[in-house]
Amino acid sequence: MQLPDESITYQYQNAVVPAEEAWTPAAELRAANLLSNQQLREIVPRITQVRGLVATERELKVPPSEGKFLEPGFIDLPQNLLDQHRRQGDSSVLGRVLKVGENLREQADRIVLLGVGGSYLGPRALFDALKPAFHNELPSRDRGGAPRIYFEGNAADNDTLNDLLQMLQINCVDPEMRDERWGLVVISKSGGTLEPAVAFRALRRELTEYYGKQSPLSKTLTAAVTGQKSKLRDLCKAEGIPEENVLTIPDDVGGRYSVFSPAGLLPAALMNLDVRALLIGAASMTRRFLDERFERNPVLQFAAINYLAHTEGKKPIRVLSVGSKKLEALGYWYDHLLSESLGKSGNGATPLTTVHTRDLYARGQQHQDGARDKFINNLVIKSTSQPPITCGMADHNEDDLNQFNRKGLPDIAAAALAGANQAYYEVARPTADLVMPMLSEHTMGQLMQMLMLATVVEARLVGVNPYGQPGVEAYKRHMQAILKAPNGNGSAS
Ligand code: PA5
Repeated sequence: MQLPDESITYQYQNAVVPAEEAWTPAAELRAANLLSNQQLREIVPRITQVRGLVATERELKVPPSEGKFLEPGFIDLPQNLLDQHRRQGDSSVLGRVLKVGENLREQADRIVLLGVGGSYLGPRALFDALKPAFHNELPSRDRGGAPRIYFEGNAADNDTLNDLLQMLQINCVDPEMRDERWGLVVISKSGGTLEPAVAFRALRRELTEYYGKQSPLSKTLTAAVTGQKSKLRDLCKAEGIPEENVLTIPDDVGGRYSVFSPAGLLPAALMNLDVRALLIGAASMTRRFLDERFERNPVLQFAAINYLAHTEGKKPIRVLSVGSKKLEALGYWYDHLLSESLGKSGNGATPLTTVHTRDLYARGQQHQDGARDKFINNLVIKSTSQPPITCGMADHNEDDLNQFNRKGLPDIAAAALAGANQAYYEVARPTADLVMPMLSEHTMGQLMQMLMLATVVEARLVGVNPYGQPGVEAYKRHMQAILKAPNGNGSAS
């Protein structure tokens, strides 16, 4: 397979002992703390076999109701959506997503997105990575046809929701003016998660008050993304939300694997992102995963190295050091993916997102010199999207920066990364680089699909089911019982 220049790669040489290293104290430390070539050689046939198993699972299509909890639908979803769109155009799932997105974009200047877990973190990761950092502060003409976007319903957080309501009341006074109209999108696969459900009720109340009971706007400016059967779907029907505004997350796509279903694609369309490019990137990663040998397969490489670092290398903490603040939300999305997929029956590394270079000043000391319990994946963006900001020459050189006259922030970030990697390697702290050529819809599509596939492969290596989250369900059950109890403490008396 010919890789386009925009392909992401995984470089893990700093995690493995060099083939023939002469004895030095540092070499001895590396032999004791990095992965061995033998461990790597042994994992390749094993992980290739696991790939076969994962590929077979996606053909099985066992509905969750039939006992075995299996949700492999995300693997082929990007290509299926693209194919269906080519054949059926506007009436395809993607066609409908794009249409609802366009309608809301045209009619409203602000959209509130409600959802939690997989119904929040994927859209948030796309927004932070691909929209300008100060998108919501820009005037409408500089927002590239996208409304302001606010994320809510992702915590039981009374004061923040109040702040949002107050902000809407201050800014939106005249519903006749397009720039003062706002809309609401709620995303919940189960349609029964309490936090987004309560926020939806509060914001629906506000929306109806704002537009008036007689106006159709409170209905046409509301959309929902939910499972085939859910209380939320029933509620939308009862409230008269137009049928075309209610989109579906397929049964065989789990919450944290749903970013390339309408759960992530409708928000992407609202942000006016290139939704097709996202899907093309994701579909290309599925093809690489299924077709490429280990040496050219970033899914298998990432899963193998991270699995070995945890189980053989005894590194229970997995750091994702992201190369831009724009990827911090992507880091939280991966935290969720890893925690809920592998954190079962005493298994699973603990994820930790850090931002390069910001957190070198917060955590660098510990990563360099603290407990040897971490494996660091650097998420590197090769080229910045904006022109480099350079130091330049200044008349007053008291800060001594004239020596770096031609150096820009990208040079400083690259030097800091190379410096940190070298310092870690010298004291046998393993790292690897996950390299994105640039930040774009195409690379984000690849990256997110790669991390989802690698998580499923790693779960199968560990021997846990990557789908479902029984631990979280237990907390939800207790919370419901406590809320329903007459004395508020969960007991009936
Ligand atoms: O990964 C998952 O399935 C969960 O983390 C869900 O995304 C989360 O619980 C939210 O669920 P729902 O979309 O049903 O509101």
